Amino acid sequence: MSPKSYQHKSSFTNLLLHIHPHAVPEKSLKLAHTWGLGGMALLLVILQVLSGSLMLFVYHPVPDKAYHCVWVLMNAVTFGRFIRGVHYWSANVLVAVVLLHMLRVFFTSAFHSPRRFNWIIGLCLLGFVLVSNFTGYLLPWDQLAYWAVTICIEMLAYIPWIGVFLKNLIRGGGEIGSATLSTFFVFHVILMPVCFFTFMPFHFWRVRKAGGVVSPKSLRGDVESAINRVPVLPHLVVREAAVGLVLVACVFMLSAIFDAPLESQANPGLSPNPTKAPWYFVGFQELQLHLAPEFAILVFPLIFVAGLMLIPYLSYGDETCGVWFCSQRGRRSAGVAGMIGVTTTLAVIFIDEWVFADATLLAGGSGVVMRGILPLGILFFGGCMFAWWGRRKGNMSTNEVVQSIFAFFLSAFVMLTLIGALFRGPGMALAW
Ligand code: HEM
Repeated sequence: MSPKSYQHKSSFTNLLLHIHPHAVPEKSLKLAHTWGLGGMALLLVILQVLSGSLMLFVYHPVPDKAYHCVWVLMNAVTFGRFIRGVHYWSANVLVAVVLLHMLRVFFTSAFHSPRRFNWIIGLCLLGFVLVSNFTGYLLPWDQLAYWAVTICIEMLAYIPWIGVFLKNLIRGGGEIGSATLSTFFVFHVILMPVCFFTFMPFHFWRVRKAGGVVSPKSLRGDVESAINRVPVLPHLVVREAAVGLVLVACVFMLSAIFDAPLESQANPGLSPNPTKAPWYFVGFQELQLHLAPEFAILVFPLIFVAGLMLIPYLSYGDETCGVWFCSQRGRRSAGVAGMIGVTTTLAVIFIDEWVFADATLLAGGSGVVMRGILPLGILFFGGCMFAWWGRRKGNMSTNEVVQSIFAFFLSAFVMLTLIGALFRGPGMALAW
């Protein structure tokens, strides 16, 4: 090996060893351990920045020009259509991958100490992914973008006391226009990337500080001498490169086959019917059809976020982590809770649509009780009863109980999203 290539190899190795330890347990190399989802999220963020920077050569964030710029990018710029496709597809795949990564972390119980705070940093990253996606949605200034963003911003008005203020703050005035576009642009191309590149290194550093990704007890300290460790280079790095290449190939293929959507230019006087929020917010839009707006927009999402932040700080004792679903019993109870979540959500949606649709009982002032306090009370009471039963009678650990409750809400939210995205037609009525 020539001195020059040796020098290159050693700087590359040095860089890698900032991210990885020298050696990792051989068993932790199994793909099913993490599915490489955290690394995929990082790669997708990088793809976003690269493709987005290229689009900035053509794009102007002004309502009269924005749509035309995107049209020119797609029809007159060499590879413009493909580059926009890469940006669009990697953004959508990123939301899915980050959510899956979070589920992997949750269901392998990788949120216990010393990883608790990293769970919170991860939640911030999830917030940045959603804000980046949402602010980017408006930039093409077409009908789809304009009305999807309008729907989401209008939802804010239902927040008591500060809703209207918030709505006007985000719009930068009384209606969506050039001030909104510049605000969204600044968030999308400056603030969010800065947040990503500050929080991501912090997130990775915490993974290393915790001794690498979580591993089952049999791989940890007590039997240290029995663990077979292998160097990260080549063992882990080659696997990461393989996952990365497959991911990039998939995103490129999607971008080459399916164009990013571009409808006609935004027309504030003509709203499409139905007008739907972006897919990752459709679940909340669907929730709004069944609950009092204050509960759908504020109370439920706040409880949901507070619950997510609280998960690592509950008292778990010395419980299993690093094993999918903790145990066979954990797997079964999470599966059953998930199925109950799916069936009750479907039942509630259909009963609400066909039985209660015109019930005056649910309208007006009493709507807050019937469509807010009552469902919240039922969920709270049901959750407490289940936790009590699981701990006392079902012999379940706290982790298994939390996992089952989470699986219930997760499956309910997935159903709300599927129904909202696929089975709502004009006037948001159910349609096949
Ligand atoms: C842009 C978003 C994100 C990126 C780039 C990212 C990246 C990563 C990477 C590379 C790892 C180590 C390898 C792996 O577990 O796959 C990791 C681990 C971890 N992530 Fe994330 N992550 C993101 C979002 C999240 C979210 C939303 C959560 C949870 C709310 C989260 C919580 C964690 C935790 C607790 C670990 C340690 C897991 C363990 O030790 O097994 N991350 N992340």
